[in-house]
Amino acid sequence: MDVTFAPSGPLQGRLTPPADKSISHRAAMVAAMATEPVTITGYLTAEDTLSTLEAVRTLGADVQREGTTVKVRGVGLRGPDARGTTIDVGNAGTLMRLLPGWLAGQEGREFRFDGDSSIRKRPVDRIAVPLGRMGARIEATDGRLPPFVVRGTKLHGIRYELPVASAQVKSCVLLAGLLAEGETTVVEPVASRDHTERMLTHLGVPLRRSGNEITIGPVDALTVDDIQVPADISSAAFPIVAAVLVGGSDVTIENVNVNWTRTGILTILRRMGAQIEGEVEQRADGAIPAGEPTADLQVTAGPLRGTVVEGDEIPLAIDELPLVALLGCFAEGETIVRGAEELKHKESDRIATVVDGLRGLGATIEATDDGFVVQGAGGIRGGTIAAHGDHRLAMLGAVAGLASREGVRVVGMEAADVSYPGFGDHVARLQQA
Ligand code: S3P
Repeated sequence: MDVTFAPSGPLQGRLTPPADKSISHRAAMVAAMATEPVTITGYLTAEDTLSTLEAVRTLGADVQREGTTVKVRGVGLRGPDARGTTIDVGNAGTLMRLLPGWLAGQEGREFRFDGDSSIRKRPVDRIAVPLGRMGARIEATDGRLPPFVVRGTKLHGIRYELPVASAQVKSCVLLAGLLAEGETTVVEPVASRDHTERMLTHLGVPLRRSGNEITIGPVDALTVDDIQVPADISSAAFPIVAAVLVGGSDVTIENVNVNWTRTGILTILRRMGAQIEGEVEQRADGAIPAGEPTADLQVTAGPLRGTVVEGDEIPLAIDELPLVALLGCFAEGETIVRGAEELKHKESDRIATVVDGLRGLGATIEATDDGFVVQGAGGIRGGTIAAHGDHRLAMLGAVAGLASREGVRVVGMEAADVSYPGFGDHVARLQQA
């Protein structure tokens, strides 16, 4: 589906973006690990997280969904069994990398994973290595790609130093640690999103953090309270950046998760000169995910200056780095992103697709081995950009169009449904308010 986004007048009004994708995946998985029914409210009903509901159904959980409310009756920590059926992860990398952690500890059972053509290009050796050290066997295509088989076994705890900061790999090892003998420690080079740790801690799992080391001990069973999912900062980032770039805009984004391990984009935007106001509200109702703070963010358009994004900041803004490239086109001076090789392993090779895509819209941007360099030119012309089946690239093109001089045609806009169904309606609503 091709959609053209014309240069926009001021964006105005209030918006609640879709539920957090990372927390929704985790909520469905931990609910499936319980045996008592769990109600998840505000679940993300996008393609990726519907794949997770389907996956836990395949494992034997009973899942009933009405809109964004999902009721799960799980199979228990040691109960999942796919009985020879393939677990289809669709386009969902997080599902593909987290679920094997739980399944690796299922003694004597095997689980086959597959997904769409894009997921078949995304590596699983990063989870096969630590799970292998814990005793499980992962047999992947060419040693590193889906389709792959997880052969469950009795696991033993390990100390694992992540070669790159990855919340997916960290979470996979921690979930395996729930079933392992002895303690399991994951050491991350720099902090990455910590939703798994927050959720498991709230459920009473013995988990402690000391600096960049997280240690988890095994449990016999999981008791899971009802879960409420806040809005996703990574989805919110698209209307936020649109409001910063489209002159005269004043938009409030409601109920957004502002866990500091996710808010790198807000820090970067503020450093570039953007005006973003918001009070963090700690949830008082005790519903999990506990300790996931939320805020209403008010964003107004204004001038930007270039910046450098590197080091510890990369994992905190990993999914928003394509937007930093677009912001750089509008900023005064140079904007550099480095130390972000991980972008090559996302839903597309996001160094190549972002640089090629934005260059096609008139940007002055160069790819590097680990990021990109953008020269600010007061904006972009417009043109056509291909989504390459990557939801974030589709929405990047849309935001670029709203802020461009001539408009942008996005080829493959349907990719946005992977994380942000209704994105086009939300844009239209802000234009009409
Ligand atoms: C995610 C972690 C990140 C992120 C992805 C979601 C998660 O991936 O890019 O969209 O929910 O744990 P990596 O852990 O591979 O960096």
